[in-house]
Amino acid sequence: MKNELLDVSIDDGIAIVRVNRPDKLNALNAAVIDEMTETFAALRTSHDVRGVLLTGAGEKAFVAGADIAELARMSALEGVEVSRHGQRAFRILETMPKPTIAAINGFALGGGLELALACHLRTASSKARFGLPEVKLGIIPGYGGTVRLPRLVGRGRAMELILTGEMIDAAEAHRIGLVNRIHEPDALLEETRAWLAKIIANGPVALALAIESVDHAAGTHTEDGLRFESDLFGLLAGTADMREGMSAFLEKRAATFTGR
Ligand code: COA
Repeated sequence: MKNELLDVSIDDGIAIVRVNRPDKLNALNAAVIDEMTETFAALRTSHDVRGVLLTGAGEKAFVAGADIAELARMSALEGVEVSRHGQRAFRILETMPKPTIAAINGFALGGGLELALACHLRTASSKARFGLPEVKLGIIPGYGGTVRLPRLVGRGRAMELILTGEMIDAAEAHRIGLVNRIHEPDALLEETRAWLAKIIANGPVALALAIESVDHAAGTHTEDGLRFESDLFGLLAGTADMREGMSAFLEKRAATFTGR
């Protein structure tokens, strides 16, 4: 894929998407969001891709937020559009029917943290720092942070990050469940790739429907969520992957899934 601000490489079923504006700490301007919208949609349907790893270029930042130089010029109505533009891109990522992991290699601030929140899993360098500093700029998180952060870490902890605008370090982010795993900076990318490789060895249809069921449950009540879950469970019972997975277990061998 040919992009200017996102580097995309695909190897062994894993797409590595790197936000590439290191001189601006990978801040998300409108052009990056446009490229994300296109790239995420393409990765969604690509048969070569079974998992996605997102990270930032350079040593210092994952993504240091939306581009403040651009935001500074917006009117009220443009503000609504700016927010929806990012929300749409991140929602494509969140509903990707293949596992996505953010490998947070440095600052994940504002829109950068919101980008990581739209991924299914998060790993971080021990040197990474996290925060939603929007209130310091007189705005609020506008790319899903007020919705996704409370669901991930609980309302009290989310309120603390959103209202103080202060940063937390990787150990604290791990303690509150904001990131799943922490690695030494040099090992982050390889460890994350290895973790994703293990995950995508599982049945691809099962992974897609697990993601869909969890996503559906976040927006509904218990009865509806349970009904949706059992429908997907039943659907999986009709797949070749289920027969292969269970036969492999019973025959004490590794399963080979075909995604059917
Ligand atoms: N938008 C636009 N530019 C940004 C940016 C952002 N969110 N974050 C960093 N940059 C730019 C800086 O303006 C600077 O550009 P310049 O070299 O042309 O002056 C460059 O990236 C390097 O950042 P700098 O601030 O010099 O690095 P630092 O090590 O002193 O500080 C941070 C790092 C992350 C603490 C600091 O850059 C920062 O607070 N960024 C903004 C974070 C934020 O509020 N994000 C939410 C936006 S809604």
